[in-house]
Amino acid sequence: MYDDLNKEISIFEKRTRKSHAAHEKAMPYMPLGVSSNFRSYEPYPLFIRDGNGGHVHDLDGNDYVDFNMCFGALMAGHCHPAVTKAVQERLHLGTMFGMPHELERELAEEICARFPVEQVRFGNSGTEVTMHAIRLARGATGRDKILKMEGAYHGVHDAVMVSVKPKPHQYGDTSAPTPVPASAGIPVASVENTLIAPFNDLAVAERIFQRHPKEIACVIVEPIMMNVGICMPDPGYLQGLRELCTRYGALFIFDEVKTGAKLARGGACEYFKVTPDIVCLAKSIGGGFPLAAFASKKALMDQIAEHKVFHAGTYNTNPVVMAAGLATFREVLTPKAYEHINRLNTKLVDGYKQIIKKTSLTAYSTGAGANGALLLYSKPVRNYRDWIEIDVDLWRHYWFGMVNRGIIPQPHWWDEQWTISVAHTDADIEKHLEVFEEVAPGLARAQQDRFATAAR
Ligand SMILES: Cc1ncc(COP(=O)(O)O)c(C=O)c1O
Repeated sequence: MYDDLNKEISIFEKRTRKSHAAHEKAMPYMPLGVSSNFRSYEPYPLFIRDGNGGHVHDLDGNDYVDFNMCFGALMAGHCHPAVTKAVQERLHLGTMFGMPHELERELAEEICARFPVEQVRFGNSGTEVTMHAIRLARGATGRDKILKMEGAYHGVHDAVMVSVKPKPHQYGDTSAPTPVPASAGIPVASVENTLIAPFNDLAVAERIFQRHPKEIACVIVEPIMMNVGICMPDPGYLQGLRELCTRYGALFIFDEVKTGAKLARGGACEYFKVTPDIVCLAKSIGGGFPLAAFASKKALMDQIAEHKVFHAGTYNTNPVVMAAGLATFREVLTPKAYEHINRLNTKLVDGYKQIIKKTSLTAYSTGAGANGALLLYSKPVRNYRDWIEIDVDLWRHYWFGMVNRGIIPQPHWWDEQWTISVAHTDADIEKHLEVFEEVAPGLARAQQDRFATAAR
């Protein structure tokens, strides 16, 4: 920690006393005082009172333009009128039946119209659907092993809780990354079944296939890695993985939990013109409600129809969430909305680029669809090992500096990115840029000092 960072944290503590008190009260009742480890950070997390459109208020009544948007789950913004109306109408008609109803078919049709899939099964979280997608792949191929990318996050089930944020002393050589469990409690057998390749490295992926012919059920990939900031696939990389899967008889899973709604109407499949075997959707497709889905061609989903692969869930397709999902697909994720968010995101990324240049900050900014980020690196991040070199204190200086001035620039954590919602306005982007312009010179000075200290 250095002086200017300490200063920002003291300002944060003065502005957010009620969050501190609420956190202290929660600590005895919940580990870390929160309900998801990602919500816990030093000195304590901001507690939110309410949100509307592109803004939220904390417990002290401070107003923020919110670019966290629930870790990217709210391209609809807070309380989108169409979603709120649809949910309010449904609430009086029964909230759960555990029996089929027509909204599920309607929403499945919407998904099949946008993605290269023929059938859909719904769930409630990203974790759930990546788990079911992998089970489907294992069931269909009769193989146990999966291949995931180092540093990729696909939720919290055992198969994918491997090499999520491995430390340099754990991860081995880049040409053959060591699978590292991301939590205690992951069975050794799970770790053994999850093979790891660096993102953007087709040669290593191919070598892994050669070493394990007929053993790999699937490759699961987030088309743009969004748990290391924003890491774009090299041209041809996703197509290359597609070909490898086809060649070695493995299934190709796109984890579009983040990209599905926010990149384009047809998600990364449309954006990159790649057709995976299974698509996983969650976050922004629910418009603020816990909705998720995995989808594929009928021939593969027949595994479920033929009772070979099992899928179930009490809360699946509860009508409240389905009403929210339908309103989101029909009234939020429209061509006009994509034009709006693309325009605002370009304006924000371009603004960041100019400020970075003006202040000589060693950093870059990049964006895709509704997402973008400030990346405190001298060259583009191409994989997890590039990302790990971040100056964490400098990033915290950025985040607290922005938050203290009324902008939540992205979720707290340097592996995340901002989300632009349909509710954000030009004025919100201008305020974001004004605040960054105020914060950036201090960041550049601190960075220079830190480079000088490191060089000594
Ligand atoms: C790419 C990706 N996949 C899966 C998940 C897990 O989703 P959930 O938190 O809804 O379980 C996330 C969550 O951030 C994610 O970013």
